[in-house]
Amino acid sequence: MDNAVILAGGAGKRMNSEKPKVLLEVLGKPMLSWVTDACEDAGIERICVVKGHAADQIDKYLDGKFETVYQPERLGTGHAVMCAREFLEANIEGNTFIACGDAPFTDFKTIHAALEFHKLSDCAVTVITAEVSNPYGYGRIVHTQSGIAIVEEKDCTEEQRRISEISSGCYWFRTKDLLSVLPKLDRNNAQNEYYLTDTVRILSAEGKKTAAFKTDNPDAVLGANDRRGLLRLNDIARIRVIEKHLSNGIEFITTDGIVISPDVTIKGGTRILPGTILSGKTEIGAGCVIGPNTRLENTVVGDGSIMDNVVANGAYVGNHVKVGPFVQLRPAARICDFASVGDFVEIKNSVIGEGTAVAHLTYVGDSDIGKNVNFGCGTVTVNYDGTNKAKCVVKDNAFIGCNTNLIAPVTIGEAAYTAAGSTVTKDIPDGALAIERSDLHIINGYAVKKLTRHLEKGKKLIGK
Ligand code: UD1
Ligand code: CA
Repeated sequence: MDNAVILAGGAGKRMNSEKPKVLLEVLGKPMLSWVTDACEDAGIERICVVKGHAADQIDKYLDGKFETVYQPERLGTGHAVMCAREFLEANIEGNTFIACGDAPFTDFKTIHAALEFHKLSDCAVTVITAEVSNPYGYGRIVHTQSGIAIVEEKDCTEEQRRISEISSGCYWFRTKDLLSVLPKLDRNNAQNEYYLTDTVRILSAEGKKTAAFKTDNPDAVLGANDRRGLLRLNDIARIRVIEKHLSNGIEFITTDGIVISPDVTIKGGTRILPGTILSGKTEIGAGCVIGPNTRLENTVVGDGSIMDNVVANGAYVGNHVKVGPFVQLRPAARICDFASVGDFVEIKNSVIGEGTAVAHLTYVGDSDIGKNVNFGCGTVTVNYDGTNKAKCVVKDNAFIGCNTNLIAPVTIGEAAYTAAGSTVTKDIPDGALAIERSDLHIINGYAVKKLTRHLEKGKKLIGK
């Protein structure tokens, strides 16, 4: 079985962030998850994350999904791998992939192809390398007669600095060889750290086979060491993701302000308008119009639906639904097919049935709304009494008049009506009308008298 160890212990001082560097996001997805996903997609079964700086945040984020080990002090990449010794010993027979948690574009195809090469050429270690135009900051690959060695920027001679083949920081090791070489690392270098890179030179000197696997995807090696680097990764990934969707038949009239996370799926014929941010596991169907100015997180939208100026998180929207403009869909909002939700409406933890219209200025929370219901303007489901939340049920074909307050728990029967302005505190039977109003009093002449008094007062004030 093959292992992966992901180095995520660094503080990322240059990021100036409370978060550990590997949790900073590229297109709304933490860099660490880009790397763990690539490992999983490459078929690696056992993954161990080395945590150090702000380890509690890493634990909270991973939520037990992978094994972790703690690196108590940041003594270098070699030391980080030493901390995973028990993990490696538990599965000593196969190979181990080592990756940096701050290089999110390491792709599963490269990981997989490098393993094939590593096994075929029977190497103790295979380093994934790339030719780059600006090698500054990376370890340089030095080819020797016995194999290869990596020299860190700070330890390079003038001549070595000119080498443009760099180490991606990703390696495949034969696990046994990795375990045998770790105790041989020392800190005799410019940064006084245990460099993982030194393992390559040592293995080579021991007569073991070491080789470079040069990737043809130079982005695969890009890392983020500071905010500028992180922005660059976002820029590159943003355009790459948009290009993928263009190839799948998605329409963009501009790419301005459009940010789509890598795991979002969109079906053909959908138009994405400016200012749209799609993140998490959002899924968009075919033939939709999304945007402008729409932010959808972990939200599913069916086919042929419109989302215009919408903020949604954890919502489900069916087919041929019109949502917006200016709508908020909060977690567990479920809008069924052919429904419409209009301006200044908020929906939370509620089902809006097929063909139902909630056109304007309405709050629906913790409610179950049937089919073909009409909500008048300004309706509120009063679901919270300050202590407990309760549910409103509105059955099929009901008509809720404007400015109705539905005091939960309450049930509005099938095809029942509520008169505008009513506060409904009791269940309404099917087909009934609920009207809750006091008699309207009309006092003739009242306004004229008031106005006259006002004018007289004014005359006195200016002395006439
Ligand atoms: C490292 C490599 C360099 C390579 C580059 C690719 C070494 C010595 N250098 O340099 O050859 O070209 O990556 O991006 O390995 N980490 C720990 N514990 C530590 C130190 C680091 O977990 O004590 C983690 C960091 O969180 C990071 C990764 O290891 O995810 C790499 O560390 P970083 O300091 O960024 O190394 P680079 O200088 O980029
Ligand atoms: Ca780095």
